[in-house]
Amino acid sequence: MKDSINVLISENDLQKRIKELAEEIKKDYEGEEVVFVSVLKGAVFFTVDLMKNYDGDCMIDVVRVSSYVGENSTGKIELKIPLKKEHIENKNIIIVEDIVDTGRTFNYLVKYVNEMHPKSVKSCVMLDKPSRRVEEFNPDYTGFQVEDLFVVGYGLDYDEKYRNLPYIGYIKN
Ligand code: IMP
Ligand code: MG
Repeated sequence: MKDSINVLISENDLQKRIKELAEEIKKDYEGEEVVFVSVLKGAVFFTVDLMKNYDGDCMIDVVRVSSYVGENSTGKIELKIPLKKEHIENKNIIIVEDIVDTGRTFNYLVKYVNEMHPKSVKSCVMLDKPSRRVEEFNPDYTGFQVEDLFVVGYGLDYDEKYRNLPYIGYIKN
């Protein structure tokens, strides 16, 4: 049977907030070039829209890590597609993620990026679920804070499904 999805954040609200985030980042990096490092696969949709709204010098790179099987975080982070040091060294890096949950992925990625000696590192997340934190982590730029719900859509999946929804929703049981 097809799951039924409730809308949590509409497409319109998402796009409006992404435009604001892009403008905020642009102000903070006036005159500097930034590299948006998109965390595959979930952050792809968000990264594309963020960059389309970003009116400044920027580049894109990707990294792939995974930690989740179904709804349960295994706590283990695996690096599946690495970054190249020459693309990170001496650059202003903004790691772009779909959601911060336990905080493990971000802490792992910030440490990983820092080992490549960037000029600076910041974090930008579409959603933050602070109630689920296991490791301390505060994103520099946040789209929306959400309560403890398993959310899908706009890149976020449940066993690889629902990434294509243009809004953020949750599965109605
Ligand atoms: P963290 O390491 O626990 O912060 O997990 C971050 C990753 O878990 C995200 O990049 C997502 O892939 C996944 N994740 C966490 N919460 C959700 C959710 O509500 N829906 C879908 N994926 C989630
Ligand atoms: Mg993810």
